[in-house]
Amino acid sequence: MEQTMRRSLREVAGVLALAIGGRAVEPGTPSLTALTVAAQRAIGARCADPLLRNPDFLAEKFLGPDVRAVLAKRSPRISRELDMDYDDAVRSILARDNVFYALLVRTKYIDTELKKSLDDGAEQVVILGAGLDSRAYRFTRELRRATVFEVDFPPTQEFKKNCVRGFLGELPANVAFVPIDFSKQDLATVLAGAGCREDRKTFFIWEGVSMYIPQDAVDATLRFVATRSAPGSRIIFDYMLESSLKSPRVANGIQKSLIAIGEPWIFGFPGRRATEYVLDHGLQVIGDPAPDELAAKYLRASDGHISGRAGRMCLASRP
Ligand SMILES: C[S@@+](CC[C@H](N)C(=O)[O-])C[C@H]1O[C@@H](n2cnc3c(N)ncnc32)[C@H](O)[C@@H]1O
Repeated sequence: MEQTMRRSLREVAGVLALAIGGRAVEPGTPSLTALTVAAQRAIGARCADPLLRNPDFLAEKFLGPDVRAVLAKRSPRISRELDMDYDDAVRSILARDNVFYALLVRTKYIDTELKKSLDDGAEQVVILGAGLDSRAYRFTRELRRATVFEVDFPPTQEFKKNCVRGFLGELPANVAFVPIDFSKQDLATVLAGAGCREDRKTFFIWEGVSMYIPQDAVDATLRFVATRSAPGSRIIFDYMLESSLKSPRVANGIQKSLIAIGEPWIFGFPGRRATEYVLDHGLQVIGDPAPDELAAKYLRASDGHISGRAGRMCLASRP
């Protein structure tokens, strides 16, 4: 029954895509959502209030001429917002969708847990659907004894490698770029082929990805971490609920623009949070905080008020 409902969600997304003239991601082009979330982090990093500033100070560096050209062509609104001052840009983004502050929470929560895991002896960091994630380049001191595996669609990854070469001159020796299509390839095989070791404590980052991939790929990823990673390994991710995906607010709002760019949200966790699903896939849940809790922790401004809304996030470990 649940599978049928999820299938129909994908079918609805497909039909809607046709109805509004949507298309699949152009072959050879980078994921547009990867570029637009990096652009929002770059804007967030300009916030005057240090408590509400996005810590991704390198996001701006990724927005070189290549990225700006793609954004100007395929997402002119964010392109204009990048040229506005901070307050105007945030007002404009919030009028369109409501993920700006959820992105800030994501960056802060994942940064915090990454540092904790490295302090606790994680030797590998696997960034699943890495997009323009800058952590391998922002946390060079903390990562000096760790290997980072950036896993992503080949076109997004090739694009990113050029960006990194552009601002660092070369690709760091401790970062392995691992091309994959999660919906077609086996994560264990692909990671092993890139030299990732199942006997080394690993921190998995799965940021802004679970909603874009089919349920089979979500299940395989959770099971892989539960059964093929070293004890003490952890995974952190943000997620959507199936009920939110079906809500008119999402279906008539952000989902329409995602379909138009060929990157619809197709997976949401059943029930009221991810906990049960994650437990069923063999992991221990360390945290699955409610959005209000995340907002109270990560969205408090210097004057004490809480800005914006958080999304849903989960931190789990291999038993
Ligand atoms: C919204 S972006 C998030 C990027 C990055 N994690 C961040 O938060 O900035 C989604 C990412 O998932 C990747 N992705 C989506 N579907 C994928 C698939 N089937 N196989 C591999 N990567 C995929 C895209 O290439 C993109 O980098």
